[in-house]
Amino acid sequence: MLEAKNIDLFYGASQALNDVSLAANTGEITCILGRNGVGKSSLMQAVTGRQPIKKGTVSWMDKDISRMATADRAKMGIAYVPQGRQIFSQLTVMENLKTGFAALPRSKRKVKDEIFDLFPVLRKMTRRRGGDLSGGQQQQLSIARALVMQPKLLILDEPTEGIQPSIIKDIHNVITILRQQGDMAIILVEQYFEFARDLGDKYSVMDRGVVTVSGEVDSMDETEVRKYLTV
Ligand SMILES: Nc1ncnc2c1ncn2[C@@H]1O[C@H](COP(=O)(O)OP(=O)(O)OP(=O)(O)O)[C@@H](O)[C@H]1O
Ligand SMILES: [Mg+2]
Repeated sequence: MLEAKNIDLFYGASQALNDVSLAANTGEITCILGRNGVGKSSLMQAVTGRQPIKKGTVSWMDKDISRMATADRAKMGIAYVPQGRQIFSQLTVMENLKTGFAALPRSKRKVKDEIFDLFPVLRKMTRRRGGDLSGGQQQQLSIARALVMQPKLLILDEPTEGIQPSIIKDIHNVITILRQQGDMAIILVEQYFEFARDLGDKYSVMDRGVVTVSGEVDSMDETEVRKYLTV
């Protein structure tokens, strides 16, 4: 479904990605693991078109989207839940959710009830300002906003960073439900081994701009993978 091949990405003279390849398939969770600053978010920026790539290709459903604008990739079903949530603090919860409409044709612009079934806490808060939500609630809002787009590829960049354990569990449950529904590909960026082991189908470990180990989670070598992660 998604195929990124041999990607190089630079910030000025400094290279953040060096010949990185990644695939993600519908119905599966692909986990991207690695310590701080190794290029995980940069790879997501390359996939979503937020940063231009110097070399390589990004293709989606057999179409080369390497040069396509971010908004057009969103219209093709690629949704991004950015690291650090980035909800609009001055807008209400409902207004935040409706920002997901931009990627949808007019006939599909509806916040489906399923969204609130996944995140019951948001149902009671639709008129509250985003900035008044707790960090965990904002993260749930950020994921919900991406789901409003009815994506075919959902990218979650460290969705549990800095969030209290009870809400981490809720977020995990939602990710598991989305996987079971089977109609989207999911890329989950996390720093810890346990996430990949518990949630992932495939995994890629990054270190300093390159992919060091990748494969099926079922045959993941814990010792090998942990070498590249925070203990
Ligand atoms: N906008 C930017 N301008 C310049 N350098 C950047 C920019 N964004 C990231 N970098 C650098 O690129 C490298 C990779 O950063 P990136 O954010 O992709 O890492 P990461 O794996 O997502 O880290 P973290 O786990 O902390 O989120 C780092 O050295 C970082 O300092
Ligand atoms: Mg990051």
